[in-house]
Parts: sequence; C-alpha cells; structure tokens
Amino acid sequence: MQLLAKHAKDAIQFSYAPYSTFKVSAAVRGDNNQIYTGVNVENASYSLTQCAERTAICTAIASGAKSITEIVVYTPTEHPTAPCGACRQVILEFGPAVKVRSVCDSDLQLNWTLLDLLPQSFKPEQLNQP
Ligand code: THU
Repeated sequence: MQLLAKHAKDAIQFSYAPYSTFKVSAAVRGDNNQIYTGVNVENASYSLTQCAERTAICTAIASGAKSITEIVVYTPTEHPTAPCGACRQVILEFGPAVKVRSVCDSDLQLNWTLLDLLPQSFKPEQLNQP
C-alpha cells in the first residue's frame, strides 16, 4: 500500500480538474502485481467527468490486468477523501475483498475493504440467477 500511495501521489500532476479544481489521483494493483495510475478527468459537460479511481481501473484492465486487488486514492488535502458511490460500484466488480485506502497530505488515512464501503450491493452474481 505504501508503494501504491507513492504512485498515486506522483500521478496527481496529471489531474485534469479545471472546473472543480479538486484534484484526485489513484493507483491500483492488478492481479498481475503491476501498478496502474489514474486521475480525474473533468469535462465542460460536467456530468461526463471521469473519477480518478475509474480512470486507474480502466487503465489496468485495458493494459492486461484481469482484476484488481487494492486501490489507493490520493487528494492533496488535509483530510483523506473516500471514493464516490459510482467508483465503489466499479471497484466491487472485482470483489468485496478489494482493499481501499485514502491518503492525503497529512498523516490521516482511511482504510476499508469494498465490503465496508458498499454493503448490500448489486453484484455480478445477481445477473446469473434464474
Ligand atoms: N472525484 C474523483 O476523482 N473521485 C471520487 O471518488 C470523488 C470525486 C473527482 C470528480 C471531480 O473531478 C472532482 O473530484 C470533484 O467532484
């Protein structure tokens, strides 16, 4: 998780957040043990904004990972930022055991599993029942 946090912090320079100016970056570990990063990418049509977590996950899968095991979210703030609801659902695709950590510029950090963040969820298995 320490290494993932470093990768996430290094990636914040690429955040594209001209509208909110709220910069977010993320780093994920793939099931292949590789690390992938992502940033928020905002859009003039605001609702098309892509969160950092989803950018990192899409990069991982598009680069050959089949799943992810951990994700670190970084914001250059005093307090850590939890993943939004949409990102929680996207992370859940890779299982309730995925580890999630939020870090920031202070020593404060938050640690969960996806199950902590999204209990009672809609899961992939629900598509495969009679
Ligand atoms: N944002 C993320 O990148 N991840 C989250 O989990 C929460 C929000 C971004 C989206 C937008 O660019 C900015 O933060 C403000 O909402």
